[in-house]
Amino acid sequence: MAVVVAVVLLIVLAVAVLAGASRRSDRKAVGLSRETRRRDAPNPLMGESGDDTLSGREVEAAALAGRTSTSVAVVESAPLAPFVAPDPMALGVTRRQFFNRSLVGMMGFGVSGFGAACIAFLWPQGVSGFGSKIKVGDVTQLLADITSNNGFLYKPEGRMWITAYPNGAVEKARATYSAQELAGMTSGVDGGFDAGIIALYQKCPHLGCRVPNCVSSQWFECPCHGSQYNQVGEKRGGPAPRGMDRFAMSVSDGVLTVDTGTIIQGPPIGTNTTGQEAEGPNCIGSADH
Ligand code: FES
Repeated sequence: MAVVVAVVLLIVLAVAVLAGASRRSDRKAVGLSRETRRRDAPNPLMGESGDDTLSGREVEAAALAGRTSTSVAVVESAPLAPFVAPDPMALGVTRRQFFNRSLVGMMGFGVSGFGAACIAFLWPQGVSGFGSKIKVGDVTQLLADITSNNGFLYKPEGRMWITAYPNGAVEKARATYSAQELAGMTSGVDGGFDAGIIALYQKCPHLGCRVPNCVSSQWFECPCHGSQYNQVGEKRGGPAPRGMDRFAMSVSDGVLTVDTGTIIQGPPIGTNTTGQEAEGPNCIGSADH
């Protein structure tokens, strides 16, 4: 009998121990001590009055319900005010605008300067000297200068020789030369001068040597290979393929202008409009007629 009573007491005691342990494990599940739960009393999850009678499971259930709630609070916003553009004068120039405008201005200035330099480089300049039209001078004065220089007048700025063309040979010349050449050659007849004028390129048509005059023969005689030309540049001997080249000429109001940019090929071999023979000893060999 005593054994039965003892067993019953043990069972009752075990049940009481198990119930107490279960209650403590619920509260420990939320990780809160008694003191902490007391401080958290205002937390709604713990109860308005700080009631610590809520179990851990109840707290977790309440938190889960809060997270999974699908209700969305709709907040009414105030009506939008109409847009009013700000006054630029009131705003002034911002720092961003200042830098942007400065950058664009400097780039524009640089591009403009480069463009102006290119245009200035490509703009046709006033050309003078060889290759341009040279106003050589008054025909009367030129004829006087030719005479005083033993029949030949050299103009280095035009790389040319100026000589007189006899008026008596003009008719033959008209049948041989172009209008550009004749303008100077016939100026004596047309203008009432003692002779006309012819402008010859100093470059030998053979291989390009500068052809000097020969005072004794009154011809041009090339020292390179011996080509010879009479006083008006018609070939008289040597290996040259033609007479001396000459420039286009024009005479206006008695003034001769030579276009050194327009070189006219010399007359073909055999052309001899003046019939001028060597007037003295040749400077280079002898003429090959
Ligand atoms: S270059 Fe004048 S004759 Fe040859």
